[in-house]
Amino acid sequence: MRPVAAALSLLLATTACTTMGTQPPAASGERMVAPILTTPDALDTSTFAQPQVARVTHVDLDLALDFERKSVGGMATLDILARDDASQIVLDSDGLQVSRVVDARGNELDFDIGETVEGKGAPLTVTIGNARKITIYYTANPQADALQWLSPEQTAGGQYPYLFSQGQAILNRSWIPTQDSPGIRQTWEARITAPEPLDVVMSGVRQGEPEDLGNGRRAFTFVMDKPVPPYLIAIAAGDIDFRAIGRRTGVWAEPAILNRAHWEVADTEDMVEEAETLYGPYRWGRYDMIVLPPAFPYGGMENPVMTFLTPTFIAGDRSLTGLVAHELAHSWSGNLVTNAVWADSWLNEGVTSYFENRIIEEIYGEKRAEQEAALSFAAIEDTLAEVGADAPGTALHQPDGTEGAGSAIVYDKGAAFLRTLEHEVGRERLDAWLRQWFDNHAFEPATSNMIYEDMRANLARDEAEAQRLRLREWIFAPGLPANVARPDPAAFATVDAASRGYAGSGAVPSAADWRKWSSAERQRFLQNLPRERTSEQLAALDRQLALSSTGNNEELFLWLDLALANRYQPAVPQAETFLAEVGRAKFVRPLFATLMGEGDWGQPIAKRIYAETRPGYHAVTRAGVDRVVGWEGG
Ligand code: BES
Ligand code: ZN
Repeated sequence: MRPVAAALSLLLATTACTTMGTQPPAASGERMVAPILTTPDALDTSTFAQPQVARVTHVDLDLALDFERKSVGGMATLDILARDDASQIVLDSDGLQVSRVVDARGNELDFDIGETVEGKGAPLTVTIGNARKITIYYTANPQADALQWLSPEQTAGGQYPYLFSQGQAILNRSWIPTQDSPGIRQTWEARITAPEPLDVVMSGVRQGEPEDLGNGRRAFTFVMDKPVPPYLIAIAAGDIDFRAIGRRTGVWAEPAILNRAHWEVADTEDMVEEAETLYGPYRWGRYDMIVLPPAFPYGGMENPVMTFLTPTFIAGDRSLTGLVAHELAHSWSGNLVTNAVWADSWLNEGVTSYFENRIIEEIYGEKRAEQEAALSFAAIEDTLAEVGADAPGTALHQPDGTEGAGSAIVYDKGAAFLRTLEHEVGRERLDAWLRQWFDNHAFEPATSNMIYEDMRANLARDEAEAQRLRLREWIFAPGLPANVARPDPAAFATVDAASRGYAGSGAVPSAADWRKWSSAERQRFLQNLPRERTSEQLAALDRQLALSSTGNNEELFLWLDLALANRYQPAVPQAETFLAEVGRAKFVRPLFATLMGEGDWGQPIAKRIYAETRPGYHAVTRAGVDRVVGWEGG
């Protein structure tokens, strides 16, 4: 191939390309033959980048963490692949203070930061001329949306500050000047300095021992030699220790919680093995995790080689480790094969939720897997009942400009789709198809059209079968197709009988039965309780089932939500403590919403608590609760 053609095909190969079955067989070692334009469904509207003109292939960060000023600053050196006639590259940025940009020989390059677009940041355009390597000198804003700086009081140890980042979906542009689009994969490396005795981890492999700089600071270096979408670049720093689980797995956490964290995730090495048996080799080397302070806004985040986890999944009985299975599964669905645009995030989350359930089945058995699948299915039904089964946002591929219907579609309907296919074609065929999907698209972006075409070609035997499977309808139409595989009602037979008993005679399950149930069963019972309860009824439930003293945060959340929905005063102090400590949006947002729904009683409580807790929340959680509470800056 001529150099120009090679460069061009590389450029284009970085954004998903679907040719709807018309693609000629690729020549060896070459994915696409230039000039193929990317299809509209792979066009990311959340980036300013123009990867067809010039794109980043490698990021080299050299940054200092300053906990006093809450700032991250230093240099980012970018390798660029560009058309010969390209004289500019457009990067994403959000609140970055750029002082200068130079080429590899140190010559100053012109740059310009354009107008900020709400929620998207601003384009950082660099006039590169012939330069194909540039260094950006910059500092991130102390308010950078990706970063959360915790005070010592927000940690378990209470002595040292803490920092973590959350990149997905488009937050990393607030601390890394690069092309922040899931279809533009980049390798990266980093040198990070931090004050002693803090340790730094990243979503890349740490190189050797930290270097003592002699000024009370240490330098840590990391390498990610596989191209990743930039939302997967992540950092955490704090007073943390490591403990091994298996030969390639381990967990980081603050010393005060390391034992409990380690016990909870002890099945991880086995999970990696089962996942490999299901869908092929784990391609990232190590699989480590860090259990963060409770301010972390998500349950988990699949940062490569270093999954980030909330501590709120620690229940003391491994009942909530579906979270670990989920983040691990993203090592295939999401990190290996990546949604090219966020409208197709079911390709990440839905496929992962299915994969998660398969891991759970292997590790904990069919019953637990069936129960968790049934909980997931109930979430779809609840959402469809709420927004309507014909709401456009209930399609897996989220149409542009519509309000998404939330996680029940992308996660749970996505999982139900693959589960349905499994029922239709059998496990063996489905598994073989999924495995080749991961193999054939490893380290590439994907779209809904691509997976449809792939299912049509490699799963369905012919057009008639594709029709029968309702592939198009599943991916592109709202609601639940008629062939949906429903969960086995036997999964929750016991608990559903108890729910009926309670609804009929008011008989609360015995404490002994309650303790025997799985967490999924207890969650099912709590979810199916009548939404209106008197204080006496709530008190009776709490007395018998010890709901307010459970160590299981999923169950505690359901209890607090029910209690607040019924203006149950005794639950308020505990809700307040919970909201002051936990920043996980999935818990925090609904609790505030429930309070706000309780008029003169709940709204003043919500506003009072939020005024206290808001500064301790990550930008993601703040954004969600601001809307719910009607917060107006201050
Ligand atoms: N990748 C997600 C978290 C995420 C999604 C961050 C969208 C930003 C935008 C992660 O894998 C996830 O799904 N977390 C869930 C875990 C659960 C489904 C087991 C969570 O945080 O609750
Ligand atoms: Zn996920």
